[in-house]
Amino acid sequence: MRISVLGTGYLGATHAAALACWGHDVVGVDVEPHRVEQLARGEAPFHEPGFAELLGDGVRSGRLHFTTDPAAVEQAEVHFLCVGTPQRRGEDGADLAALWTAVETLAPRLQPGSLVVGKSTVPVGTAALVQQHLDESTPGGGRRGEVAWNPEFLREAHAVEDSLRPDRLVFGVASDAAEARLRDVYCHPIADGVAVVRTDLQTAELAKASANVMLASRISVVNVLAEVCEAAEADVEGLTRILGLDPRIGPLYLSPGIGFGGGCLPKDLRAFVSRAAELGVDSASLLLGAVDDVNGHQRQRAVEAATALLDGRPRGRRVAALGASFKAGSDDVRDSPALAVAGALAELGAHVRVYDPQALRHLAGQSDLEVCHDVQSACEGAELTLVLTEWPEFAALDPAAVGRVVARRVVLDGRLVLDPEAWTRAGWTVMALGRGEAEPDPAARKAG
Ligand code: UGA
Repeated sequence: MRISVLGTGYLGATHAAALACWGHDVVGVDVEPHRVEQLARGEAPFHEPGFAELLGDGVRSGRLHFTTDPAAVEQAEVHFLCVGTPQRRGEDGADLAALWTAVETLAPRLQPGSLVVGKSTVPVGTAALVQQHLDESTPGGGRRGEVAWNPEFLREAHAVEDSLRPDRLVFGVASDAAEARLRDVYCHPIADGVAVVRTDLQTAELAKASANVMLASRISVVNVLAEVCEAAEADVEGLTRILGLDPRIGPLYLSPGIGFGGGCLPKDLRAFVSRAAELGVDSASLLLGAVDDVNGHQRQRAVEAATALLDGRPRGRRVAALGASFKAGSDDVRDSPALAVAGALAELGAHVRVYDPQALRHLAGQSDLEVCHDVQSACEGAELTLVLTEWPEFAALDPAAVGRVVARRVVLDGRLVLDPEAWTRAGWTVMALGRGEAEPDPAARKAG
């Protein structure tokens, strides 16, 4: 099948490469020439495990192309809308400018009988407006392109795996023909047994936003539980283990820490509340406003804990920040809790030196933070070390080795990844959100 993919960010580029891997002829179209050139050469413009290989295979096979030329969509019979829908500047709702640009690009170029499939996360009701726009722009009336919504649930750092082997496919369609066409597109994962749910356009749109709202809510709930654990001197990890064994709750998205970030959960939560309010549903803001506030409170709590560990005087103090990306496995720093905490401490006058295994190239404009290219140099002379992203290499650090370069063995574990016993044994004071402060082992103190 000939397919176009409009928008080649994390979502679009990975989706395009997955489609090519399933044997389709795919063209990815983007307005950003540098990104298109990179992709066309088979070079991954972002860090995503397995993506460079999938992309390279697609480009070499001749089934995967990238271009800035909108005319390229004319050859395709199915078109995926994969553009970003960020938060509107200064408001909570979604900015759909890129989506409408993509729709306007497509409208005059659609072959009769085309299927236009939305993957971007949008406020409920958008698909119907896209259909109306396409109908109104068809010369002489009639219908050239039918709209379907097929939300994407891929996680960054697992984008390839989630694209090739999704756990569900949601087909929001208005006709049997649209469903049949989507079944052809996805015949490979369908043959592998993936669950397919057919529904209407608006339910499909809501399915995506609702999943992110549920995930965000779980994280804020667990962060409240963690704060109570800290106050009651209870064991938050034991607690989440117990909760996770309840099949009605399950073990995932129960990791406490400095909260959720990234290009999806925070803005989707706010866009959902904003759209619900437009629809007259005020309870959404009652509940989800609190989820958002608790998430912001986690960052604040980390900054306050760090300040306390610096005896209330952060100005001029040297701080090592380990982690900049919003989560491990990704180089994405959009709305990163790690950068928010590091940046807030820099604003309080601390001299913050940051290391991240993948995200450093995105810190170029961040003049308040000093970029370091390994853990040791970030930690050199530090009076406080912060672990802000759950990269496995931070969990595996040797506390004795890090202890030799820092000025003070004090660490704030914002992701609960360090083994407190190993670190206190090596003479560290370990503060962890949800776990409280653990003093260095007295034997280590004597030895150190
Ligand atoms: C999220 C959803 O998980 C995907 O299903 C969805 O497709 C995607 O948004 C999207 O809308 O495109 P992603 O933003 O890649 O995926 O990140 P997550 O893995 O969900 O993590 C989000 C944030 O929550 C990260 O900052 C992570 O560190 C934090 N988190 C996650 C926690 O603080 N605790 C947890 O237990 C889990």
